[in-house]
Amino acid sequence: MDRKENLVLLAAAAALLWMVISAETSQATHLPGCQDKCGDVSIPYPFGTSEGCYFNEHFRITCNTTITPPLPYLWSSKVKVLSISLDGHMRILTYVGTDCYSKSGVRESPTKSFAVLPAFPFSNTRNKFFGVGCDTLALIRGVDISGKLYSTGCVSFCNDIGSVTNGSCNGIGCCQIPIPGNLLNYNATAGSFRNHTGIWESNPCGFAFLAEEESFIFTTANLTNIKNTTLLPSSIDWAIGNQTCEEAKKNLTGYACKANSGCYNSRNGLGYLCNCSAGYMGNPYHPDGCQDVDECKDPNLNKCLKKCQNTNGNYTCSCPKGYHGDGRKDGEGCSADQLLVVKILVGKHLIFRVYIGILNEPGSR
Ligand SMILES: *[C@@H]1O[C@H](CO)[C@@H](O)[C@H](O)[C@H]1NC(C)=O
Ligand SMILES: *[C@@H]1O[C@H](CO)[C@@H](O)[C@H](O)[C@H]1NC(C)=O
Ligand SMILES: *[C@@H]1O[C@H](CO)[C@@H](O)[C@H](O)[C@H]1NC(C)=O
Ligand SMILES: *[C@@H]1O[C@H](CO)[C@@H](O)[C@H](O)[C@H]1NC(C)=O
Ligand SMILES: *[C@@H]1O[C@H](CO)[C@@H](O)[C@H](O)[C@H]1NC(C)=O
Ligand SMILES: *[C@@H]1O[C@H](CO)[C@@H](O)[C@H](O)[C@H]1NC(C)=O
Ligand SMILES: *[C@@H]1O[C@H](CO)[C@@H](O)[C@H](O)[C@H]1NC(C)=O
Ligand SMILES: *[C@@H]1O[C@H](CO)[C@@H](O)[C@H](O)[C@H]1NC(C)=O
Ligand SMILES: *[C@@H]1O[C@H](CO)[C@@H](O)[C@H](O)[C@H]1NC(C)=O
Ligand SMILES: *[C@@H]1O[C@H](CO)[C@@H](O)[C@H](O)[C@H]1NC(C)=O
Repeated sequence: MDRKENLVLLAAAAALLWMVISAETSQATHLPGCQDKCGDVSIPYPFGTSEGCYFNEHFRITCNTTITPPLPYLWSSKVKVLSISLDGHMRILTYVGTDCYSKSGVRESPTKSFAVLPAFPFSNTRNKFFGVGCDTLALIRGVDISGKLYSTGCVSFCNDIGSVTNGSCNGIGCCQIPIPGNLLNYNATAGSFRNHTGIWESNPCGFAFLAEEESFIFTTANLTNIKNTTLLPSSIDWAIGNQTCEEAKKNLTGYACKANSGCYNSRNGLGYLCNCSAGYMGNPYHPDGCQDVDECKDPNLNKCLKKCQNTNGNYTCSCPKGYHGDGRKDGEGCSADQLLVVKILVGKHLIFRVYIGILNEPGSR
């Protein structure tokens, strides 16, 4: 290879590097030098896997790399993380409680459903507590963030499998109840009234679990096959600290919402969350803050008919020369300037015509 080729290669490599770096800095949701993924799960800041990479201890994720693919856990707990989203939701896996019987009605060792979260309550809008079975009492006992005890349950019966309707958890083969807000920890168990006698063939077990309403669609098959499912997804609501926005804004040192972002209070539990202001995108918790959206690059993001100019947090439309109007599809648009024709006549002979562009006064259509 001669020198020229080397130079060309070098330039190409530099361009590539620059592209990689600029892509990295404009879209990064994790802190520089921090792990952005554990296995298939993205870890955006305020979450992180090592010291200096998370906002505080509550946002620490332990990535177990001895397993392939690596698996993320909340804190150092045994709570497996499925996904983290910046809108304040996190999906984790929680256990299914089972209560099985032998054909002769002997109770086999039941398993308990439980979760112990040091912070961040279970979502009371996305989760439900479920009982599944034809002779089943499902019980849940929990503690909320203030230490208050809560306990309740639901009952599920069915005389035969024919009375069960796929897709409806209505108390026949499946029961469901809402959970209260602020719920941190719980134990759930299933029990039976008649040891599943009479319906054992089609339903030898009862089940009790807390899960995302969306991820559990009841079918008759579940009267037997949940036995093989030990973990189901549930959703928790994370937030920053235990102060409201108003309180947190008083001390900007610890305030988590960075440039071009706003603050809103958590709807479940203590603390606040951040979101990018209109016209900005990215990670509002990242020290760089939210980035301007170039609305002009995407025709779906702007309403300009002809010319579009990006501004910080917004954009402006304009019309080309010879046209007037606000240039917006939802506004005046652009119309051609009117021409006034002045004919100058000498006697009957046309000497020349003058075309004068009339500037319409602002606001006219
Ligand atoms: C990672 O997972 C393996 C296999 O499940 C387990 O033996 C090990 O203790 C885990 N390591 C950590 C740090 O949790
Ligand atoms: C259920 O089983 C328990 C022990 O396994 C037994 O004591 C009880 O009598 C049984 N109940 C019914 C209704 O079969
Ligand atoms: C759940 O069970 C464990 C162990 O039996 C107990 O320590 C804990 O207090 C229970 N939690 C609740 C909310 O009842
Ligand atoms: C209900 O769903 C199960 C499992 O998907 C299926 O085997 C069964 O035929 C369905 N029953 C009805 C009535 O659709
Ligand atoms: C449950 O798992 C066992 C063993 O892994 C398997 O034989 C059985 O068919 C499974 N049952 C259902 C309902 O999927
Ligand atoms: C419920 O049954 C359906 C099949 O009808 C299955 O796809 C689903 O995984 C079952 N749910 C659980 C929790 O086992
Ligand atoms: C709020 O958080 C701080 C620091 O994490 C803690 O010291 C304080 O006790 C908490 N206050 C409440 C009401 O939980
Ligand atoms: C503001 O917050 C920082 C970091 O959380 C803390 O070190 C500092 O003491 C706080 N200042 C006041 C006046 O509370
Ligand atoms: C952008 O500008 C338009 C027109 O001036 C205005 O109506 C709109 O509210 C602005 N949007 C934002 C996010 O500031
Ligand atoms: C930020 O969140 C608040 C409260 O939920 C909401 O009113 C506002 O529209 C959100 N802003 C953006 C840009 O999504």
